[in-house]
Formats: sequence, C-alpha cells, structure tokens
Amino acid sequence: MDRLTECLEQDRERYLDDLKAVLRIPSVSAQPDHKDDVARCARHVAEHLKSLGMTRAEVVPTAGHPVVHAEWLGAPGKPTVLLYGHYDVQPPEPLELWKSGPFEPVVRDGKLYARGACDDKGQVYMHLGAIAAHMKTSGKLPINVKLVIEGEEEVGSDHLEAFLRERRRDLDADVIVVSDTSMMGPDQPALCYALRGILYTQIEVVGPTRDLHSGEFGGAVANPANALCAIVAALKDGDGRITVPGFYDRVRALSPAEREAMRSLPFDEAGFLKESGAPQAFGEKGFTTMERIWARPTLDVNGMWSGYIGEGSKTVLPSFAAAKVSMRLVPDQDPDDLMPRIESHVKKLAPPGVTVALKDLHSAPPFLTSPDHPMLGAARRALERAWGKPPVMIREGGSIPVMATFQKTHGLPCILMGFGLHDDQVHAPNEKFSLSSFYGGTKSAAYLYQELART
Ligand code: BES
Ligand code: MN
Ligand code: MN
Repeated sequence: MDRLTECLEQDRERYLDDLKAVLRIPSVSAQPDHKDDVARCARHVAEHLKSLGMTRAEVVPTAGHPVVHAEWLGAPGKPTVLLYGHYDVQPPEPLELWKSGPFEPVVRDGKLYARGACDDKGQVYMHLGAIAAHMKTSGKLPINVKLVIEGEEEVGSDHLEAFLRERRRDLDADVIVVSDTSMMGPDQPALCYALRGILYTQIEVVGPTRDLHSGEFGGAVANPANALCAIVAALKDGDGRITVPGFYDRVRALSPAEREAMRSLPFDEAGFLKESGAPQAFGEKGFTTMERIWARPTLDVNGMWSGYIGEGSKTVLPSFAAAKVSMRLVPDQDPDDLMPRIESHVKKLAPPGVTVALKDLHSAPPFLTSPDHPMLGAARRALERAWGKPPVMIREGGSIPVMATFQKTHGLPCILMGFGLHDDQVHAPNEKFSLSSFYGGTKSAAYLYQELART
C-alpha cells in the first residue's frame, strides 16, 4: 500500500472527529437567530484550514453570511483547483422527529447522524481530510488549491456572485471541483454533469381588507384562499405540464442517446419510491421517473397558508392567502426570462374580486457541462482507484446556484464528484452520511489531486 493510502486509512478517526466538531456548530443560514453561529462556523472552518497548512485562510464578510477563502499555491507548474462547498445547513426543524440532536453528531450502525453530515459539511471535510493526508505524507499537495466555502448556499447564494467578482483575479484556476451531489448507490461512484436550476416565488392573494364573517359575507365576495387554490390548480395541466405560456420554449430535449444512457443506469426505482414513502410515482406524461427528476422542469407548492388552521372550526372568510411556489428549471431555461411570464400568467389566472402579487424569492439558472471533458478523465481514474469500479455519469434534480455563475465568470470545466446517498435524509430530520461514503470520498479526493497533477 502506498503511503498516502496508508495515512488515509490510519487517520480515519481523526477526520471523523474533525467533521464532528464542525457539525456541532448550528450554522443555519436561513434563521436570523443563528447568525452568530454561522459566523462562528466560518471562523472554525478557516482555523481548521490554517492548521492544515493553507497559506491563506480568510473569513470574508459579505452583505450576508461570510465566505471562507483559503489557498495553498506551492505547486508551481501544476494545475490549480478551485474547490467549492458550503458550511451552512438547512434548518433542523421539526426537532421532535430527530432520534438524536441535530447538532450532536453520533455514529449509529456505520452512519454519522447530524444536520449537515452529508449536505455539505461532510463532503467539504472529505477534501480537508484529503489535504491533511497529502500534507502529512509529503509536506505538500500535488496541485495548487483555492477554496471557497460559502455560508449561504441553502438560501440561494445571494451574495456569492459579488464576492467572486471582487476576487476574480485571486480565484483563477484550471478546474472547479465540487462535492455536494450523490452517488448512484453505496458502492457505485458517480460524476454529475447537470443540475436543475430554480425559480422560487411567493404568490400573495388579497381579497377583503379584513377577515369577514363567512355567513355574513360568504358567497358575496371572493375568498382569497379559494382564489389561490384555483390559481395553483391551473398552473399544471392534466398531463403534468406547466401551463405558463412559453415555459418550455428553451427546454433542451433529451437526445435518444442520452435517454438510452440514462435507461442503462442501475437506478433502483422501487427502492427510490419506497424511500420517498409515496404510494406511487406521479409526474409529467411521456417521461420516466429519472427523466422527470434529472431533465424536466417542474413546479411545486412548498407551503401555503390562509385563514384559520387552529383546532376546531372558525367560520371566517380570510382576507389573505399565500403560497410558496418553486419551479425547478432545466437547461437552457433562464429564470430571468421566465419570471415575467409567470407573473403575467398568474395574474391572468386570478378570479375577479382579489388582487394578486408575486414575490421573487430567489433563483438560479440550471447547469450543464460536457460529460466528456478531459478533466473528468482525472476524476474517473481517481474514483476507480478509490472504489474499484469506474463512475457512472449522472444528472441531478437539485440545484447549486453558484455553478452557473462559475460557468459564466470562469468558463472552466467543473467536476461534480459527490458521495450522498438517496436515504441520507438531507434537508430532513435524521440527516446522515455513511462512513463508507465519507472515507471513500476522502480517498477519492486525495487521489483526484494526484490524478489532476498528471493532466
Ligand atoms: N446539495 C444540494 C443540491 C443537490 C441536491 C444536489 C440534491 C444534488 C441532489 C444543495 O445544498 C441544495 O440543497 N440546494 C438547494 C438550492 C436552493 C436553496 C437554491 C436546492 O436544490 O434546493
Ligand atoms: Mn449542498
Ligand atoms: Mn442542501
């Protein structure tokens, strides 16, 4: 066994302890109460990077949560890798469904449970473990690294673009590496070449200026809750297609070859459905489950509220109703082009007697990179060394807002090498990261740096 691999095996517990330490910090970017914890987490990550020998390890303030910016440039003539990840996490609620505290990491049955274990602290710390192993065995890295670990990914990365623009010169690189996606299965590594984008809106419907007695007024004036339901219901047709005019104009059709490649992947649809707990699959007509998630846009209500939702009944005609509605976008849809179309469509759908307003909460364009650019060859070799089998090429249905920005500002090849599993419960109670993913991912990252040094 080579010294690097030996070190990676020997120091496993250490990498795990380092990960547990960062998981104890509740860096919930969405909740203002956790603002100081988010900042503390950034300092913690920067301190750790410094301890690994990074020559820069800065906590950079933004108009939102800080960005951790680090680098080590001691490999002249070798490629420079820009590593991106996020140290912020989703809110842990509902707390009562967690078997152990969301910020008290514990290993049960070969899995590490905590908010952020997989998304994305665990996957960031795989890289920090890989860096540690190289530093320990050879006092240097085989490549130059720049790290951007942000604190606002889970809330849309609103302030990252300004940071990237301001520091554009310092962030020059040859390739971008991100570990924030999934594997095809516990033993099947994957490289991801496409992500969906997102367009997140809030629809607000106002009727009467105050809540009314539903006996006194019901039937005589429009009810905003009923109106909102009518609007939402009309946003998709019976075939599961979104009814906004022009919505599909820029949707790139899947080629027969890509459909075939997807069909040949070892996708366990029954297992996937079982994991979801849904009684059956449901979605746009004419597409498989995998195609629906990976390559078709969709629209979902994420939350709705109006009127009385307490115990028992209250005969009220509410004055207000609202819904959070997000759309996942696919290449080459553009959220800026779609937003006005959605707004005018929603307004047309509104029945008389109410006024409707749309808020643009956040958006991110979809991402697509060529599945066979040469840098991916290095990742392929690294994954094969670490897992004993070559990776499959996948797309994913989730979004990483900065990926499209990187393409725009850097125009660089991107390696999305992720190690999540579909039962990791990311964003949900009892999030976990399998230790096999964590250790295998650490190895993969360590080998990736070596393979990139050879390109
Ligand atoms: N790591 C995920 C993105 C992801 C999810 C990739 C599933 C592959 C599969 C990321 O942290 C995330 O949750 N992104 C948000 C972005 C949103 C808040 C703009 C998402 O997809 O909802
Ligand atoms: Mn993530
Ligand atoms: Mn996430």
